[in-house]
Amino acid sequence: MEFEIKTKEQYQDYYKKSIENPKDFWAKIANNFTWQKKWDKVLEYNFEVPEITWFKGAKGNITENCIDRHLKDKGDKTAILWEPNNPKEKAIKITYSELHQKVQQFANVLKKNNIKKGDRVCIYMPMVPELAIAVLACARIGAVHSVVFAGFSSKALASRIDDAKCKLLLTADGAFRGNKTIDLKAIADEALEMSNSIETTIVLKRINAAISLDKNQKWWHSELENVSVHCEAEIMDAEDMLFILYTSGSTGKPKGMVHTFGGYMVNTAFTFQNVFQYDKNDVYWCTADIGWITGHSYIVYGPLLQGATTVLFEGIPTYPDGGRFWEIVAKHKVNQFYTAPTAIRALEKYPIELVEKHDLSSLKVLGTVGEPINEEAWHWYDTHIGKRKCPIVDTWWQTETGGIMISSLAGITPQKPSFATLPMCGIQPVLLDENDNEITGNPAEGRLAIQYPWPSMARTIYGNHKRFKETYFSTFKGKYFTGDGALRDKNGFYRITGRVDDVVIVSGHNLGTAPIENAIDEHKKIVECAVVGFPHDIKGNALYAYVILYDGVTGDEQLKKEINDLISKQIGPIAKCDKIQFVSGLPKTRSGKIMRRILRKIASNETENLGDISTLLNPDCVNDIILKRI
Ligand code: PRX
Repeated sequence: MEFEIKTKEQYQDYYKKSIENPKDFWAKIANNFTWQKKWDKVLEYNFEVPEITWFKGAKGNITENCIDRHLKDKGDKTAILWEPNNPKEKAIKITYSELHQKVQQFANVLKKNNIKKGDRVCIYMPMVPELAIAVLACARIGAVHSVVFAGFSSKALASRIDDAKCKLLLTADGAFRGNKTIDLKAIADEALEMSNSIETTIVLKRINAAISLDKNQKWWHSELENVSVHCEAEIMDAEDMLFILYTSGSTGKPKGMVHTFGGYMVNTAFTFQNVFQYDKNDVYWCTADIGWITGHSYIVYGPLLQGATTVLFEGIPTYPDGGRFWEIVAKHKVNQFYTAPTAIRALEKYPIELVEKHDLSSLKVLGTVGEPINEEAWHWYDTHIGKRKCPIVDTWWQTETGGIMISSLAGITPQKPSFATLPMCGIQPVLLDENDNEITGNPAEGRLAIQYPWPSMARTIYGNHKRFKETYFSTFKGKYFTGDGALRDKNGFYRITGRVDDVVIVSGHNLGTAPIENAIDEHKKIVECAVVGFPHDIKGNALYAYVILYDGVTGDEQLKKEINDLISKQIGPIAKCDKIQFVSGLPKTRSGKIMRRILRKIASNETENLGDISTLLNPDCVNDIILKRI
């Protein structure tokens, strides 16, 4: 590949070129791929509208780049290496040739079920090879996949199905999760009751649950019978939709981020290759779930675009014991290992023997994603997992950015604990102060924005372009606003300090507080509530709810449980609150807006410096909340 960066000087040179002449730069990178037709224009954009077009007029298909073009020299190489939940079950290796057949065959199943280019397919599945195959099969025929993380509740699934008007649902009879099974099909059925657009459901047998199918529901294995393994790739325009993926926002409704094929392909391949320094026989493992953007970009698309062997793990890090990750690294001789800080913090609490008994000598590169990594966890990862010989890439990016934005390149550019470090090629970060002015010079701290388009950025929010503009392009004129705060040290290295809006990152999951508050408010004993994040030593952040009850209602443990049950049902167990405090009032501005800043400080036990509270409508409630703080 022409775009591999192998030295620090080369990074500096590439970066400079990518800023001085972005169009030339990205055209050179894009030239490495198979296109049916090349672009007429590299980039057209206007952040005011906003309107972003990369590789205008180019035509092709991402699956030809992920699979077909590797067949000549990598047909027998393992593309997907699947490790099941239960270590006693056999791991499965799927070669590029096999993947080619399986994807085409399932693409024909989709067609048989009346799915055409542009139709939306909802995928609600465990981490099994069929999930990756289904994703690629959609892309093969130009159908838009909308993967919903299998930990979401029926209500969350239903709202995502309806929002994208999905025609087909792909699910399973259940999922294994450690020593538990999850009744995915029952959840999917509940979601089908609440949603309107699904015409057909295809169900994979995974746990052999004793279930029967309704009409319009079919077994996956029966659908595959007598189906051809040849399916030409649909010719897609570079700006045709590839997928929708939902992410939380500061208001109740999740945002269906839309990614298009051409630019997404170019940048996920480019970043995968250079950040992880993948070498041709390496085994690469990203522990995320395909239900999140990390799984889309760095389990499926990025690695397959580069002809890599990508590990797909069905289970959890603590089953059968807290050494499972390390056991898998040793078993499959993993070379690049990419995980979340929350997993590192959870695993470092286990006896160190669970690490030491496994041979981790295959590891060359470690990565983290999803939230800031604290120095202590960074050093544990470096010492005990990387044995101080593996570079650690701390990759900052978002569902909206499609690919990694700020990160070191493993072993090529310098690393610094708890810093994501330097921007990737083509990425132009800026920091803005309280008055929305750019802060030049170093060191600096402010809100993080990006001032120029990059190919894998989201193009819109499905069905709501106005919200796309308001959320990302209205805070700072002519710039994409990330919602994150950051500081830049004297060398220009970035450290992400966390969200500056009402989104909390819990165990690496991006949770808007508004939908959680809406769920709590549905309880008939509750008048109003506010949810904020507070620091937690394993999850990074946890949720703290302040709840006002109707007169005469007692706030007890039972009520707390009911609140968390409601949240689980409406959103999913990941959004449960660790602390619930019953309060008589919430601090509000004179215009009635809840002052979350004060509640965040109280939840974090930083009550000395609450700032000026005299302008509040009801300053008295603040003391009361502090006194009864949990
Ligand atoms: O706050 C940042 C945090 O995760 C947010 C994006 O979440 P999501 O769209 O779910 O994507 C997560 C996986 C890419 C960001 O706005 N975040 C992500 N990576 C980092 C991070 N915070 C600090 N350091 C990181 N490396």
